[in-house]
Amino acid sequence: MKILGIESSCDETAAAVVEDESRVLSTVVASQLDTHGKYGGVVPELASREHLRAVVPVVRSAVEQAGAALEDLDAIGVTSGPGLVGSLLVGVTYAKALAFVARKPLIGVNHIEGHIHAVVLEARSGGQEIGYPALALVVSGGHTHLFEVSERFEYRLLGKTRDDAAGEAFDKVGKLLGFGYPGGPVIDQLAPYGDPRKVRFSLARMKGNPLDFSFSGLKTAVLRWTEARELDGELAERRALLRRTPRPTRDQWLAVTPQSTLDLLAAFQQTVIEELLRRIERSAGDIDAQTVIVSGGVACNAGLRKAAQAARLPYPVLFPTPGLSTDNAAMIAAAAFRKFRRGEFDDFALRAQANLTLA
Ligand code: KG4
Ligand code: ZN
Repeated sequence: MKILGIESSCDETAAAVVEDESRVLSTVVASQLDTHGKYGGVVPELASREHLRAVVPVVRSAVEQAGAALEDLDAIGVTSGPGLVGSLLVGVTYAKALAFVARKPLIGVNHIEGHIHAVVLEARSGGQEIGYPALALVVSGGHTHLFEVSERFEYRLLGKTRDDAAGEAFDKVGKLLGFGYPGGPVIDQLAPYGDPRKVRFSLARMKGNPLDFSFSGLKTAVLRWTEARELDGELAERRALLRRTPRPTRDQWLAVTPQSTLDLLAAFQQTVIEELLRRIERSAGDIDAQTVIVSGGVACNAGLRKAAQAARLPYPVLFPTPGLSTDNAAMIAAAAFRKFRRGEFDDFALRAQANLTLA
């Protein structure tokens, strides 16, 4: 059985064909980084326009690369939310049109459920068992959510961010320090060159639900750190570098980043990692989790992966491969399989829902 997945919730137009819930036959991602990079973040109007341009060729190449034709598909899964409404609309409308023309069942998928299924998909293809209840931490540019996941894929929200998402904090710090957008991958590359002990950040103290997250205090602490220093020279050098090379290499960044700034980046990243790991350990204990799933763009973070391994937690902590951590459509197709089996289909009334929740 083959399902075509379509994803357009933010700044990536993606399509993929997945077979039997375990084999990724194709996965195509058209990134809009070059469009949004110069604005320091995603510009919603530009994103929808880029999706419009990309959706037809991206879907076509995913179907072709899978060695399939539209007739071979058993269903079409599409992200219906949460995300930018104009971006979502492009994917949802195109999926409806395809489903109508090819007479295929249509399945609307929650983007967050998709991120969780990136790990489920890879576990299945690697023959690895996921024990339930599982704890899922979805950490991306838009979300920092902890869920309990039952064997039947029912979700219970255990905690979420009260302000910025973890990825958003990486992006804001990156922007503040002149590293362009998105900040996460650059900070991840540079953090190993800094000494996190040189800058002290305190961990967030949560009133109410201790499993909630807050990253705005950390962001403000970084802002204060920059205000207390004379950074104009290095900022100008980094901005000039970005104008010359839209995506500089690690060594190019290192050449324009003094040790004190590298120390700051290391301390910032370590604090985020500590915040995430603390909540994982606490909530996994609370629900007696048999497996922990970490997914979303921030799950690419090498420091986080290393720290999760070094913590020697008494349950497996599973991360998707980097290509399936950030937004992609294989995860959307994977989540659509589960809905297919349950007979949860959508009709042409399927809407794009910017604030769709999972639990
Ligand atoms: O899942 P994703 O592609 O899109 C959303 O659903 O938001 O996540 C993008 C986010 C961005 O904030 C980006 O900075 C962050 O993931 N990110 C990272 C890394 N790679 C991407 N953050 C930290 N370390 C990374 N290596
Ligand atoms: Zn995402």
